[in-house]
Amino acid sequence: MEHVLSKTILISQTIELIAKKYKLSIEEARNRFYQSDVIEMLDDDETGLYGESALYLLSLYEDFLKNKCIETQRLLLRKPRIEDAEPMFRNWASDPEVTKYLTWPSHENIEVTKTIINRWLEEEKDPKTIRFVITLKNSGDPIGAIDVVNYIDGSPEIGYCLSRKYWNQGLMTEACRGFIHHLFSRGFNKVRIKAVVENIGSNRVIEKCGFKFTHQEHLEHQSSFKPNPVTLNCYELVK
Ligand SMILES: CC(C)(COP(=O)(O)OP(=O)(O)OC[C@H]1O[C@@H](n2cnc3c(N)ncnc32)[C@H](O)[C@@H]1OP(=O)(O)O)[C@@H](O)C(=O)NCCC(=O)NCCS
Repeated sequence: MEHVLSKTILISQTIELIAKKYKLSIEEARNRFYQSDVIEMLDDDETGLYGESALYLLSLYEDFLKNKCIETQRLLLRKPRIEDAEPMFRNWASDPEVTKYLTWPSHENIEVTKTIINRWLEEEKDPKTIRFVITLKNSGDPIGAIDVVNYIDGSPEIGYCLSRKYWNQGLMTEACRGFIHHLFSRGFNKVRIKAVVENIGSNRVIEKCGFKFTHQEHLEHQSSFKPNPVTLNCYELVK
């Protein structure tokens, strides 16, 4: 009981430090702290080592910001978690409008989303996996995902999707720019992306991120789930 209480106090002290340092409301600081992996570390910590002081937790939080996530003006891109299943299903994976031009069909129920996230967590063990859940910095809400869907001649190919509620506010352009910067800083010199010709919003995001059109690809079937033929615009961006 004593340990639980001191942990609660430490967390609130850390949240206060974050609020003060980054000039945020307590509510915003709490949301941001709970989006970090420090909370998971504390939950897993049986030795009590992580809970030494709020300043130490602040340093762990800052380490998370610097090394394990992508921070942009409005967004925090972080690793997926199983708790993302509910908001992922609700916000984007169940929406046929979101999946219209994607290779996968919309999820019929949350069990499908849970299965996908469990697969993602398994894939995290592979260093080739580069995947982030896009969350709103202020509320912590997961609203989309961005990842490397493939490697072409060693260059990562980007894929992304966003909850329809947030379309046309420049959010994916912001997320994609952050993701490209992340990929370049990891040592890749070229990134690629493909979009179905009719997907005006995605082609526009790609253009705004500075990609150069290279060629078109004609597929007889969009994917194993979608039998329709598609034409893809293919782009690349060199560092
Ligand atoms: C494609 C997608 C990621 C775009 O995200 P977003 O956050 O809305 O993108 P942005 O707001 O950064 O930019 C969208 C641009 O497309 C434009 N746009 C969108 N629909 C348009 C339309 N029907 N006609 C003209 N322009 C359109 C917007 O006006 C905006 O351009 P602007 O900034 O010059 O005004 C989002 O719509 C999505 O998740 N779609 C479903 C998944 C998907 O298709 N993923 C792409 C796979 S390649």
